[in-house]
Parts: sequence; C-alpha cells; structure tokens
Amino acid sequence: MSDYIQAAGEKHQKQFGQFFTPPAVAEFMMRWVLDAKANAVFDPAFGLGAFRTAIAGRADVQFTGCEVDPTIVEFWEQHTGKRADFIAIEDYLLSWGSQHANIVCNPPYMRFQKFLNRNVVIREFEKNIGIKLSGYTNIASAFLLKSLSELSERGRLAYIMPLEFLNAGYGTLVKQKLIESGHLCSIISFDCEQDIFPDATTSVGIILCDKAVYHTDVQFFRLQSIDELAAFERLQPVAEVPRSALEPPAKWLPHFRETAFSVDRQKMTTLAHFGRFSRGIATGANAFFVLSPASVAARRLGPAECVPCIAKSVQVKTAVFRDADFAENPAFLFSVAGNPAQAAADYIRFGESAGYHERFLTKNRTPWYKTETRISSPLLFGVFSRNGYKVVLNKTKALNLTCYHGFQPNLLGAAYLEHLFVYLSSQTGRQIIARSVRQYGRALDKFEPNDLNNALVPTATFFDTIAAEQVAAAVRSLAENGALPEWMEAVFAPLQCEG
Ligand SMILES: C[S@@+](CC[C@H](N)C(=O)[O-])C[C@H]1O[C@@H](n2cnc3c(N)ncnc32)[C@H](O)[C@@H]1O
Repeated sequence: MSDYIQAAGEKHQKQFGQFFTPPAVAEFMMRWVLDAKANAVFDPAFGLGAFRTAIAGRADVQFTGCEVDPTIVEFWEQHTGKRADFIAIEDYLLSWGSQHANIVCNPPYMRFQKFLNRNVVIREFEKNIGIKLSGYTNIASAFLLKSLSELSERGRLAYIMPLEFLNAGYGTLVKQKLIESGHLCSIISFDCEQDIFPDATTSVGIILCDKAVYHTDVQFFRLQSIDELAAFERLQPVAEVPRSALEPPAKWLPHFRETAFSVDRQKMTTLAHFGRFSRGIATGANAFFVLSPASVAARRLGPAECVPCIAKSVQVKTAVFRDADFAENPAFLFSVAGNPAQAAADYIRFGESAGYHERFLTKNRTPWYKTETRISSPLLFGVFSRNGYKVVLNKTKALNLTCYHGFQPNLLGAAYLEHLFVYLSSQTGRQIIARSVRQYGRALDKFEPNDLNNALVPTATFFDTIAAEQVAAAVRSLAENGALPEWMEAVFAPLQCEG
C-alpha cells in the first residue's frame, strides 16, 4: 500500500479519496456481510481490494465491484499478478440499474462540491431513485444512498465512513433512508479513528444493515480499539434505541455517549413479552363525549351509554386506583353500543347541532358518535411527564382516554401484572425505562406506546425470585405512600451494572 501511495502521489490519492481499510476492519465487515451464508458481494469502491484480500482463498464467494480510477486497479493487477476482470472501471455514481446480493464499501471521502460530475449525479439520483441530493452532501453519503437502493431482498450491507452525517443537516435524508425500511441493525463508532484512517478529522464508523430482518431497535456501539471487532458478537451496545425514537432530523451522535450504567441483559426482556401498551381512546371532541355525573343526570342518560372513564391525568391521584378513588372525581364517556335510547338520541342531535360531528376524528367515523370499543386496562402509563413518569395499577373498570397509555397483558403478563407495576415504579425501573423516552424541550418527557413496548423489563424467571407476599406488600406500600420499601428497591438494583 505504501508502494502505491509513493507511486501514485498524494495529489492523486486525494483527488480520488483513496484511503485504505485496515485488514482487521475489512475482515470484520466481510465476516458480517457473508454471515447469512451469502456467496456474493459487491464493492463499489475497490481501490487496492482490501475487502477482497479479507476473503482471499474463499473460492465459494463471488466478488465483484467497480472503481473509477484505472491506475489503482492496474497497480493492484501488477502487485498481485492477478487480473481484475471482476471489477468494472466506471464511476459508481453514474452507473445505474443493478441490484446486488450484498454490498461492502469504504467509499471515497470528499465533499460533493469538489466532485466534477456533480450536476449529472444529482440528475441521475433524481431520475433513478427519486432522491434530491443536497449540494452539501458528501460523496460517501451519496454512495450509501445509492447502495441502499441497490441491495437485494435479504441482502446485507456494511459501510465504513465518517459519521458526521449523523449530526449534519444533509444527513437527514440519509438517516431517513436508513431507518424507513427497518433494516438498519447497528452503527459502530470508533474512538480510535486515527488508527483506522490516520488523516481522519471526523468520527469514523461502520453502518450495518440487514434486509432479511426487521429491527425494532437500532444498536449503537462504541469501540475503543479495532481489536474489539474480533469479538463483536459478544459486545454490548452503549444504547439500543427504538426505531420509532430515531428521528431523521435529530442528531444521532449523542446515542454513542456512554450512559452511566448498563443493564444486565441476561435478566431482561422487552415489555412486549408480557403484553402491549396502546394509546387511550381518542374521542375527537372531549367536550361532547366526556360527561360529569351532573350532565349524565341532566340528560337522563342510562348507564349503558355512559362508561366510567379517565379523561384527565389529574383524575388519578394514587398509584393504585380503586373505585373509591374514581368516585372522588368521576367522569363518563358517552358510548353508544347499538341503537341509541331516546335520551341518547337527543344528546346526539344536540352534538350535531353544536357541530361536534364535523370534527377531524368524528367526521371520519361511522356513526360519528361511536368511539372505539375497548376494555379497561389494568396498568396505565402517563403520556407526558415532567419529573418522572406516572404508572398506575388500575383496579377500576374506567376506560383511559389519550392522557394515559393502557396496557393489555397477554396470558404471561396477566400472571406478572403486579410484578411489572412494582418494577415500573422502582428507581431502577424508572432509570431503565427513561432510556426509551423522547425529550420534548426541557425536562418534558413523552412516551409513545412502542417506546414502552420495546423498553426493558425483568424476565419472568427474574420475577419468580420475588415471593408473592413481597410483591403484595410492595403494592400496598405504593398504594399507601406512593413509594416502594427500600428492600424492594434493593431487589431490582442488581439489574443495573456500572459503566
Ligand atoms: C476510500 S477508498 C477505499 C478503497 C478500498 N475499497 C479499501 O477499502 O481500502 C475509495 C476508492 O473509491 C474510488 N472511487 C472514488 N470515486 C469513485 C467513484 N465515483 N466510483 C467508483 N470508485 C470511486 C477511489 O479511487 C478509491 O480507490
């Protein structure tokens, strides 16, 4: 390689963005891409063939690629004594119409502004894949976008490139394309970028996508040294971020920041294992649908048409919500199942005269006054929170509207409902769940149902180590003082480990 650098000269090397992947990195990327028993791989920026060298001797793998610079390919041929007939001498960004089983690449690094064929490339991207490239983009991002569009069904892609696009404005489109299909598995960032590319001025990392798998979470890894790649499969990510929480315009580099603790994954599973949180009922017009006991009486509505409901977060003041608590601040959802009785029909007519049937949600429902049919949720989770979230064990039949997400347990979840409630109320649970939160401005957190479903909770096996009487005592403590006893906090504490 140093022979090449000497022969070609620094100017030539810079002109084509020629940097070379260290063997350990190339070996890792090839191992990952070929892991799914693949036998074909395409390299759009061949250079001196770092990726091909990484699988030298594997006759079962069909290696193809392209390279714009004939000089470097000739050098490779002379140096190895082999013919590079599997490499097309062409500009990757101008050759369209192929699909590739798997793609591995270390794209050239240079700003798009310096690229000679820039306007032609912009036109080709728009024509072929409907993507409008920003003039600020860099060539590496353009390579990645093109490769994502060319990856076959069930194919894998590994790209090593600068990670500045994760924070830059021009990167929004790249991030959007990376996550929209759900195939982005991991991003690896290197603390040792100078070891990888001695001239690197930005953070460098590897993007891994797998089209055979739909990933609900994206893993962010941060490596101190290249050597760690050898045991990559055993590494813990610094963060696993639900895909739904990864907004393309947001800065993603902060996800690599070490959190103050990690989680004992052996003892954890996702909440979805026990059931699902979903949004509460959206009426589309609470002023019409939510009734006080006085309006129920005044309108002479029957119990079949007025279902107890929780319409506002403040209605629930205790961690364990019982009928007596509901009675202190009751509310009813106007809910007509079949043909409305006379009083209900009168109320519906009143609603129409006041224009409630013309609201955004109501006008898209038939009939407009029929809200979703739901059953009450035994566990409620406050949608917004300022100083820690609100989790409630709901012992009433009240239906939650959109101020709370409601949990419907599956069979397993039904058996561990109180365990889950106790865990979610614990300090440990709060810290672990907080990782899934979205921050809306200062200290205002918003939870989406899927963030919660993907959040980590203890496994049933872990819960089984807690005696039923202990769980019952903890629930009592939450009901009476809104806090868990210290001994119960201590049960969950080992789920977090330092560092
Ligand atoms: C960063 S080097 C990587 C080389 C090699 N694959 C490796 O990993 O060591 C990028 C290579 O892409 C080539 N290249 C630059 N622009 C290109 C383009 N538009 N189409 C195809 N190859 C290009 C450069 O000449 C260079 O050899």
